[in-house]
Amino acid sequence: MSKDQFILAIETSCDETAAAILKNGQEVIANVVASQIESHKRFGGVVPEIASRHHVEQITMVLEETLKKANMDVSEMNAIAVTEGPGLVGALLVGVNAAKALAYANQIPLVGVHHIAGHIYANRIEKEFTFPLLALVVSGGHTELVLMQEHGSFEIIGETRDDAAGEAYDKVARTLGLPYPGGPEIDKLAQVGEETIDFPRAWLETGSFDFSFSGLKSAVINHLHNSKQRGEEQNNANIAASFQASVVDVLTEKTYQAAKEYGVKQVVLAGGVAANKGLRQRLTQKFSDANISLSIPPLWLCTDNAAMIAAAGSIAYEQGHRAAWDLNANPSLDLERYGSRAK
Ligand code: KG4
Ligand code: ZN
Repeated sequence: MSKDQFILAIETSCDETAAAILKNGQEVIANVVASQIESHKRFGGVVPEIASRHHVEQITMVLEETLKKANMDVSEMNAIAVTEGPGLVGALLVGVNAAKALAYANQIPLVGVHHIAGHIYANRIEKEFTFPLLALVVSGGHTELVLMQEHGSFEIIGETRDDAAGEAYDKVARTLGLPYPGGPEIDKLAQVGEETIDFPRAWLETGSFDFSFSGLKSAVINHLHNSKQRGEEQNNANIAASFQASVVDVLTEKTYQAAKEYGVKQVVLAGGVAANKGLRQRLTQKFSDANISLSIPPLWLCTDNAAMIAAAGSIAYEQGHRAAWDLNANPSLDLERYGSRAK
């Protein structure tokens, strides 16, 4: 038996049906993602029932393709890892049931993975972690600063009090009449626009590492409303650039302050909004002269995928975590509790 560790992972928490095989926690052997974005576009957002149905239709094919690409058999895997939450319950269930069936039929250990732990561990595929580590998690459903003292332990030191960063992007994009998902559309526009509007920055109380984006979202909507009433022409590129400047300012400054305060050795960027050009540039600039290493995942590892679930699953497997055969989808799985769960 080979000493190498192979993990087959499944991710179906939202609108991507994904599977991947990772060798020794860091080497991607196969990575397959079937996106449903086109099906949800005409509704302006993810429709849970449609997402579940697509996952059911795609999962077998995605798994077969992953194994074929790797030229491996399920029996060669050390464990099957699967996103158990958070996410859409019907969508999660498809992945959880597929993972259970595969693991049980082949009598291989099953490992449950928290979706956000996966986003954080996407960074370990490129570079080994150095602790203490701080992760800035920015996705469609989450905006958090997560402190890690060691593998598998997560402490949330700041989080959004209202909208997640990605959610704010998607909502503002919708008011600007841009297609779903709005984040990449605003990012593109922001590159060609200028920061002509001084939108608010929600710094909150001194010393707080929490975030708030709902005030900014309202400010953008008010700005649009007022300029329409005055009969002014709307410049979407400048609005996008001004909105993005506010989001990126707050995310970058708070991450930097928290990194200093907690004396971390490494900062990692995680989640769908990690694909944002403006955020990637500003963080790189800000940390360039700090004595802290900064990791930003390549674009293919920012949006939902299963390689990141395998990366987190690999560590969980090594640490002895095993899911029981009655593993269930948990749409509101808590990250800190997940990190401190018994083996
Ligand atoms: O992590 P993710 O794929 O799904 C969740 O786990 O939520 O994140 C999706 C979010 C969406 O809100 C999308 O608009 C946003 O990430 N996003 C971006 C960019 N690319 C994706 N937001 C800003 N700029 C981008 N380039
Ligand atoms: Zn995600």
